[in-house]
Amino acid sequence: MSDTLLFSPLSIRGVTLKNRIVVPPMHQYSAEQGFPTDWHLMNAGKFAAGGTALVIVESTKVERRGCGTVGDLGIWDDRFIEPLKRLAGFIKQQNAVPGIQLGHSGRKARASRPWEGDRPLQRTPEIEDWDAWTPVAPSAIAHSERWPVPRALETAEVKDLVAAWGQAARRAHQAGFEVLELHGAHGYLVHEFLSERSNQRSDAYGGSEAGRMRFLIEVTEAVRAHWPDHKPLFVRLSVEDHAGWGPQQSVRLAKILKQKGVDVIDCSSGGITELAPILGKEIKYNYQVPLAEYVRFHADIMTMAVGLIIHGDQAEQILRDKQADLIAVGREILNNPNWPMDAALKLGVDGPFRNVPPQFGYWLGTRAKRGFGTAPSTWQNGLAERLAGDEKAS
Ligand SMILES: Cc1cc2nc3c(=O)[nH]c(=O)nc-3n(C[C@H](O)[C@H](O)[C@H](O)COP(=O)(O)O)c2cc1C
Repeated sequence: MSDTLLFSPLSIRGVTLKNRIVVPPMHQYSAEQGFPTDWHLMNAGKFAAGGTALVIVESTKVERRGCGTVGDLGIWDDRFIEPLKRLAGFIKQQNAVPGIQLGHSGRKARASRPWEGDRPLQRTPEIEDWDAWTPVAPSAIAHSERWPVPRALETAEVKDLVAAWGQAARRAHQAGFEVLELHGAHGYLVHEFLSERSNQRSDAYGGSEAGRMRFLIEVTEAVRAHWPDHKPLFVRLSVEDHAGWGPQQSVRLAKILKQKGVDVIDCSSGGITELAPILGKEIKYNYQVPLAEYVRFHADIMTMAVGLIIHGDQAEQILRDKQADLIAVGREILNNPNWPMDAALKLGVDGPFRNVPPQFGYWLGTRAKRGFGTAPSTWQNGLAERLAGDEKAS
């Protein structure tokens, strides 16, 4: 048995996470008219059953115009509460904490799915509200030459949007989610307000750094007014966007957000220009971990590390080095939804199968008592050769 930080609980406000492993928001492009489908239930359910402490449902849009693709999840109307309740309830039944990310795609709205080219959508008759879905942004500046010029939001519309985030938070609470994350990263609407490149407004929501931060700060206030005190609030930032916004600005912002009731900064990067992609081109383990460490240290706030964290011991080391408080495992958990169980085995945690529901945890535990399956099945070096040898011998 070993004592690990990865499998130690963490209480934030009134919510206790049973370990430090988080599924970060990962878009499924599978909603219908904004409503979740069985796919969402299966997808979130398998991660929750795999032993993760917190499952954060993908970026769910606070208004129709904010949808990135035809398959985005929505939360802009009370009609979304009941179907989302089913999703949150199912995650909870698996002894995991249900979280949800609120988002708005801004000038990157109305796009095709990544595997269909990740480009502006072509108009088709099936999209009945094409004009109402016109991308909006702080200023009429396109993401790149490939993308359409968005319509700049009027000041009154910005205020309406602040209110929309507040209402979305209320709905997330009513649906039973216990952790809320605001998407302030990856070149979407909130990030577009923060960045000088995309925000050239002359009203109170632009200009100076304080002006550019105003939208997110007001959104946070509106959200906190509707999101109960006992429930944690996270904000995801592109702590370094390689286009003028960096760790120092993020620290200044994180200090203000902390005052406004934000508990955790989820530290990501990139996305504001085509040259600074969110993922895909990074080829280094832990590539965003230094950002989590920097914000944690300088803003004195809890952080979540994310980005090519793949192995259990790698995650444990990040926590031991005090670089972050939570570990988000994204693409690797797509590969192995039982990643927490696997990590527990590798780290020699006592009762690795206790982390998962008894429907399978019980059977794996009893088998382990007889000496089988105590190492991850893909991990037993030399087993194939030994079995081949046994076959030859028989
Ligand atoms: C399929 C997919 C969908 C994603 N959707 C979102 C999203 O909705 N919101 C968000 O903030 N990040 C999103 N991301 C980024 C992930 O949350 C995560 O930050 C990224 O995958 C890096 O972590 P990893 O190396 O562990 O995968 C998505 C990533 C993937 C692979």
